[in-house]
Amino acid sequence: MGDIVRVAGLTKRYGDLTAVDGVSFEVREGEIFGLLGPNGAGKTTTISMVSCLLEPSGGDVEVDGHSVRTDPGGVKRVLGVVPQEIALYPTLTAIENLRFWGRMYGLSGALLKERVAEALELAGLADRAKDRIEKYSGGMKRRINIAAGVLHHPKLLLMDEPTVGIDPQSRNHILETVARLNAEGMTVVYTSHYMEEVEHLCDRVAIVDHGKVVACGTKEELRGLVGDMDVVTIAVDESTEAALESVRAVAGVERVERADGSLQVLSRDGGRVLASVLGALADAGARVHSVDVQAPDLESVFLHLTGTSLRD
Ligand SMILES: Nc1ncnc2c1ncn2[C@@H]1O[C@H](COP(=O)(O)OP(=O)(O)O)[C@@H](O)[C@H]1O
Ligand SMILES: [Mg+2]
Repeated sequence: MGDIVRVAGLTKRYGDLTAVDGVSFEVREGEIFGLLGPNGAGKTTTISMVSCLLEPSGGDVEVDGHSVRTDPGGVKRVLGVVPQEIALYPTLTAIENLRFWGRMYGLSGALLKERVAEALELAGLADRAKDRIEKYSGGMKRRINIAAGVLHHPKLLLMDEPTVGIDPQSRNHILETVARLNAEGMTVVYTSHYMEEVEHLCDRVAIVDHGKVVACGTKEELRGLVGDMDVVTIAVDESTEAALESVRAVAGVERVERADGSLQVLSRDGGRVLASVLGALADAGARVHSVDVQAPDLESVFLHLTGTSLRD
């Protein structure tokens, strides 16, 4: 399939700060593409430039062949956007909010009615349609916000951290909704700092940090960057530099990184080096709470590439 989004050298400067620094990636038609990175990485700024809310300082974005620089109208016709901040009127009911957004997208009459009903069903909130938004929980507001973003059946949906700070039930509902929309043919760009969600949902992923793409590809390709390794995560009381050094010296240990409250040890055979690693830690006086040996996930990829943890 072709590329529905082409981001090339995209840059945004705020005075001395370069919030987005020469970002390039492509989104293929029909996929769920993940934009994964910690808070402040530049995800929202990137999404805002893709959706023509913010003008780039440099570079360009093409959406379905339309440039954000020369044809923002063409870009907007292809897009649905679910912003990080809830874009609903609290004193209006859910149905009134959806009608408002539907009219903004040029829907009216029987089609508007049909799409609003469909959106309420998608949000799983048809029975609460006549309640004011201010009575909704945070998770319910987000579900309506997503429904509002797809009223006009966009080809491409941009979602910016749609599950931050909500209850697990709404979170699961949202993840299922994204998968369902994608199965029905919508291309989705899913922005998050939750590695597990991106790992679960996305086909291809761009990992961003400090305004730059540090890696981009399928999950398998990204895991491959860590190499054919086991990731041994050891929760320790306190990891002194001396403890770290003694673990680094163990034969078979490729790399050691400090994450918060734990050490991540990369090895081609995690099971085999484990005893020596624990021995080295005990000798250095570190107290171990738990040990976990796994194949690399996107968290280990991030740690491997940046030397820092994705978690806040
Ligand atoms: N309007 C603005 N003015 C100045 N700095 C900004 C503005 N918007 C964002 N930033 C800065 O740009 C960086 C990237 O922010 P953002 O795109 O919101 O990151 P993310 O969405 O990944 O958390 C941050 O350092 C943020 O403080
Ligand atoms: Mg953001």
